[in-house]
Amino acid sequence: MTPSTTAARRALVTGASTGIGAATVRLLAAHGWEVVATARRVERLAALAAETGCQWVAADLQEQGDIDHLAERVLDGGRLDAVVNNAGGALGADLVADGKVEEWLTMYERNALAALRVSQAFLPALRERGGDLLFLTSTAAHGTYPGGGGYVAAKHAERVIATTLRQELVGEPVRVIEVAPGMVATEEFALNRFHGDRARAEAVYAGVAAPLVAEDVAECVVWALERPSHVNIDCLVVRPRAQATNTLVARG
Ligand SMILES: NC(=O)c1ccc[n+]([C@@H]2O[C@H](COP(=O)([O-])OP(=O)(O)OC[C@H]3O[C@@H](n4cnc5c(N)ncnc54)[C@H](OP(=O)(O)O)[C@@H]3O)[C@@H](O)[C@H]2O)c1
Repeated sequence: MTPSTTAARRALVTGASTGIGAATVRLLAAHGWEVVATARRVERLAALAAETGCQWVAADLQEQGDIDHLAERVLDGGRLDAVVNNAGGALGADLVADGKVEEWLTMYERNALAALRVSQAFLPALRERGGDLLFLTSTAAHGTYPGGGGYVAAKHAERVIATTLRQELVGEPVRVIEVAPGMVATEEFALNRFHGDRARAEAVYAGVAAPLVAEDVAECVVWALERPSHVNIDCLVVRPRAQATNTLVARG
């Protein structure tokens, strides 16, 4: 939430080692924000810090102990104005009939429970002093598609955390914002989804004139955070022009 002073605002960005998270750190820093970046891969966070001047704390958001440590470090460093819950991702594209339970569990942990744990860790400070919780969900949080069941279920759960929180916090100085992108061509998302199978990952974007890129989504995140403090962007759905729904995509 916009403070009344001109001091730099301070944000935590999860999943900042690559893709949308890293682009968001870069753009926030360019807009004069102080940023704390977190992810598991230390060397990538260190490189981002050298490039942007951000701070970083490594954490596995599937581990409560890591989140406790992250919260301690971030809150020790001063006031926090925004938490960007961006960490997440998909695993596999099996039909429900063949879905691997352990992959569904990991996606629930990585997308829904990571955002829940991080939000719980920072909510007391945000409620006390005012601030924003932003959730990077997906159009997969708004509709399903064949082969998407596990990811769609996890992203729906993440969206429900955001929409429920917005109701539970009404009247308090905390905005709850959802940014829900469609197809974004990031370096690792599809590669991770298909367990390193580069041909399958590239097929996701094959023939699509211009998928979104990480910087497009970072623009949406930063725009939503920088609205005046009485303006809550409940949900910003953003897709490439070549995509009309999760399954209807124009390919050349
Ligand atoms: N790309 C798309 O098409 C798309 C579309 C809509 C929504 N989204 C969502 O937008 C977000 C970012 O997407 P992206 O494409 O930038 O993803 P990405 O390139 O796959 O990056 C995912 C990020 O999450 C971090 N992460 C994963 N598991 C973690 C864990 N257990 N603990 C801490 N950090 C963890 C990764 O860092 P480490 O591996 O270093 O920990 C990485 O920085 C995700 O929530 C994704 O679901 C993506």
